[in-house]
Amino acid sequence: SAAEKGGHDYFMLKEIEEQPEALENTLRGHFVNGGIVLDEQRMTEQDLRDIDKVFVVACGTAYHSGLLAKYAIEHWCRIPVEVELASEFRYRDPVLGRDTLVVAISQSGETADTLEAVRHARTQRARVLAICNTNGAQIPRESDAVLYTHAGPEIGVAATKTFLAQITANYLVGLALAQARGTKYSDEVAREFEELAAMPQAVRQTLSTVEQVRTLGRELADSKAVLFLGRHVGYPVALEGALKLKELAYMHAEGFAAGELKHGPIALIEDRLPVVVVMPSAKGRALLHSKMLSNIREIQARGARTVVIAEEGDEAVRPFADELIEIPAVATLLQPLVSTVPLQVLAAEIARARGYDVDKPRNLAKSVTVE
Ligand code: G6P
Repeated sequence: SAAEKGGHDYFMLKEIEEQPEALENTLRGHFVNGGIVLDEQRMTEQDLRDIDKVFVVACGTAYHSGLLAKYAIEHWCRIPVEVELASEFRYRDPVLGRDTLVVAISQSGETADTLEAVRHARTQRARVLAICNTNGAQIPRESDAVLYTHAGPEIGVAATKTFLAQITANYLVGLALAQARGTKYSDEVAREFEELAAMPQAVRQTLSTVEQVRTLGRELADSKAVLFLGRHVGYPVALEGALKLKELAYMHAEGFAAGELKHGPIALIEDRLPVVVVMPSAKGRALLHSKMLSNIREIQARGARTVVIAEEGDEAVRPFADELIEIPAVATLLQPLVSTVPLQVLAAEIARARGYDVDKPRNLAKSVTVE
């Protein structure tokens, strides 16, 4: 009923709007006495300190959150991180050992490929840390440490609030590792945590774009395809935006690293093709911002209809944005927590305008427990 959906036409919109609260719940209790704490830890501090290599394994949207973990963990901890689809990792012969940490990210904690990736890692004595939204699920049960996202149950098949919660949890794991290795002192960890703690409010602010994006979604509903471009942490966001559109609107959608534009994707640009661009901050990432401006100029010159997600006050991008969606200014690594929100709404609204069931897309399951 509409009441269960909080007055919305579909659960997904309710869950999109619950994201600030979900993030508060993910963060709660994980910063105690100046340090990051996990929910379950069956590894010693020394084990954590000795980690010299990280593999992140996951499927679907969880994999996209994992891509972001690499930016944060390598930056904060100076440990090499590889991110891999669980379905590839489990059939390869990755180089693992006692000092390897495998971070398995799964909302349900029951995804068959992710579970098998965990087992594959453990047979080679690697440590496993699970990031999961479901208490007591199989993946956390088979792991050496667990961080629960506590985002609450998610009804929509396409992940929304659990994605933002996974990103947040990944960053908490990054801070826990930085702390254990001593690459970050407690006061720096405290500062990073404070920035994370300010994100529920920033996401709340971003929700003010919902009506603008819904209107845009209705306008774009007849498009043949939509492309998404991002750079740095905006790249996984572009991949996630495209995945949401495929899942919900059954529309051809691809996410690209903007630097790859000239290596292929630019050939796809034709008149009125919508291209969603996630802009880096002009202040925080001036170089990437200027590169992205020239990318937009190039696609606009070839007729693309540009939909630009940019930080408030980004005047330079205005002339190149056929539609401008403004998000609050936040730290670089945290931008995905706000830039993803309009992309979720866009996919849901295009799907609805096309007459599809947003909460139960065809052929998809909430959790893929059989292969
Ligand atoms: C399915 C769902 C996705 C989800 C993926 C991974 O494909 O439809 O929304 O991202 O599984 O699920 P997990 O529970 O492992 O995060």
